Amino acid sequence: EFHKHPKHLKLASDGMFPHWDKAQLQRGLQVYKEVCSACHSLHLVAFRDIQDLGYTEGQVKTFAKGFQVPSVNPDTGEPATRDGLPSDYFPGPYANEVAARAANNNALPPDLSLITKAREGGKDYVYSLLTGFQNPPANLPKELRPGPGLHYNPYFANLNLAMAPPLTKGQVTFADGSPNTVEAMAKDVTAFLVWTAEPKLVKRVQVGWAAFLFLLIFTTLTYLSYRNIWADKK
Ligand code: HEM
Repeated sequence: EFHKHPKHLKLASDGMFPHWDKAQLQRGLQVYKEVCSACHSLHLVAFRDIQDLGYTEGQVKTFAKGFQVPSVNPDTGEPATRDGLPSDYFPGPYANEVAARAANNNALPPDLSLITKAREGGKDYVYSLLTGFQNPPANLPKELRPGPGLHYNPYFANLNLAMAPPLTKGQVTFADGSPNTVEAMAKDVTAFLVWTAEPKLVKRVQVGWAAFLFLLIFTTLTYLSYRNIWADKK
């Protein structure tokens, strides 16, 4: 078997006490915008949602304005575009599936909003895929070798996929001067895609702990009341 098990990616949002590394999520958004958005949509995320990554309302407005979103010309009824608003969702790169396939060797770049939930291996898989492109091993049988327009990646289920290695060293320049190796950019964009797939993850776990703590205190109080009520009945 040439297929490989994903590498583990450790993130701040893991485990029983998760938090968001907002600086990392901002870098991941930048990687998505400058690299992945050329082919992949992010249909379930609205511009206003990124305020949670630590941007101000004004920054979100400016960010949204930088995108053209589909609209309709009010006079002619013809399709048109307009500047994005915070309430708009990230627009996809293609008008429809036919156009998307035409641009990608007949393969369809999936929407990335839920990709870290949708694939077996989750974030580990996405991170491994992004960092896993390599030359096919010499002993790879002929029928498993990448055909035209395909790229070998041992983390992909059928070993060859239609996406070329999307990241190259130094491709994105981060304002905070963070490293921009393929590794580092892959980590950041995967962390961002963990957030897009479950933006309420941290809140959910915090509320869970609060509920647990409440029940613990409540149980203790109930037990003490019980002891108190029955104290003289023995
Ligand atoms: C597939 C992520 C950039 C084209 C995928 C998949 C992921 C992914 C997770 C799914 C693999 C699967 O089905 O299990 C990303 C990320 C990118 C990026 C995070 C940015 C860092 C790009 C770019 C292009 C592209 C720039 C186009 C030039 C495709 C295509 C597929 C795909 C065509 C379908 C491959 C197939 O089914 O054979 N990508 N991608 N991706 N991506 Fe990307």
